[in-house]
Amino acid sequence: NIGAERFLPGEISLPALREAARRCQGCDLYRNATQTVFGEGVPDARYMLVGEEPGDQEDRQGAPFVGPAGRVLDRALEEAGIDRETVYVTNAVKHFKFQPRGKRRIHQKPTAAEIDACHPWLAAEMSLVNPEITVILGATAARALLGPAFRVTRERGRPLPRSEGGFYIATVHPSSILRAPDRDAAYAGFLSDLRVAAALP
Ligand code: URA
Ligand code: SF4
Repeated sequence: NIGAERFLPGEISLPALREAARRCQGCDLYRNATQTVFGEGVPDARYMLVGEEPGDQEDRQGAPFVGPAGRVLDRALEEAGIDRETVYVTNAVKHFKFQPRGKRRIHQKPTAAEIDACHPWLAAEMSLVNPEITVILGATAARALLGPAFRVTRERGRPLPRSEGGFYIATVHPSSILRAPDRDAAYAGFLSDLRVAAALP
């Protein structure tokens, strides 16, 4: 893992970053994935939503949160009253990590080293978008933004001031709702955390 730093463009803008990220080889994940999945959304978004890594559908389509987890996220955003026009969505890691199993590709969690390698892209997105509210979707995003000691289960739904201004607020990853034994309860908890984010000043 040499890290993404050396692949950053000279000119730092969202379009330049997105273009440069296509050629990133900062860790080994670019080898088997279809393409880099960069963040998307409005450049001056009030809300930055940070997931883990692209899934199977995202890898094929080249856009974040367009698969099953994205449908959960879209529904919850709408119910929480967070307009898509106020949101920028990205991931802590920009390539899909998977294990082939027959025809299927089974999602694998990125390692701490892969999260670190990819961090320059996320840091650049954060500084350009400079969101008022950063919604951390699950443990991988939490690790990328707040370090390894942060515990989503303990701190979820609670706004944490960000040194640059605004807040972080952590919640579960939407794909964990799809795996939960009680989906309705898991979804309700997720929605309640997003409502806290929606009500912030
Ligand atoms: N899960 C994520 O963390 N990100 C995506 O873009 C899709 C699924
Ligand atoms: Fe670069 Fe991130 Fe992809 Fe690794 S996962 S190759 S650091 S864009």
